Amino acid sequence: MDQNTTCQAASPLTLAKIQALIDAGAAQPGGLLPVLHTIQDATGFIPPESVPLIADAFNLSRAEVHGVITFYHHFRTTPPARHVVRICRAEACQSLGVATLIAHAEQRLGCRMHETSADGTYSLEPVYCLGHCATSPAIMIGDEVHARVTPSRFDALIKKTRESA
Ligand code: FES
Repeated sequence: MDQNTTCQAASPLTLAKIQALIDAGAAQPGGLLPVLHTIQDATGFIPPESVPLIADAFNLSRAEVHGVITFYHHFRTTPPARHVVRICRAEACQSLGVATLIAHAEQRLGCRMHETSADGTYSLEPVYCLGHCATSPAIMIGDEVHARVTPSRFDALIKKTRESA
């Protein structure tokens, strides 16, 4: 593939730029996870076209790289939705009824955990502790954390994202 090819429509990064990120990280011991984070931070996901480049740089098989990417829920292999909604499923949030909130969120957004709504507006993802255990349940929309989120507060937060779109 041409190194100047742009990865998927949503990614502005060319494979040549991704290769530069890989090269910078491949020299570091234990550099695989930092490289995956760097690519995802830059593009929003790990483009499948980058897997052979990563495998090559780290002397791994494509299957091994794919295995690492899929092991960590944090990594995405498709472009993210416009709004990524993360709901904490760790212990404190569970004890304060996050299961009810998740059921409500899935119904409200029209997608289940690890999925994206049909219109591509929302992705719903689990997260394990947002550091707001004393004020759970906690969620994160984009980069912003919200605590004590009830179903009605969730609806208000989602409404805000629609208004800001
Ligand atoms: S357990 Fe949910 S914020 Fe810590």
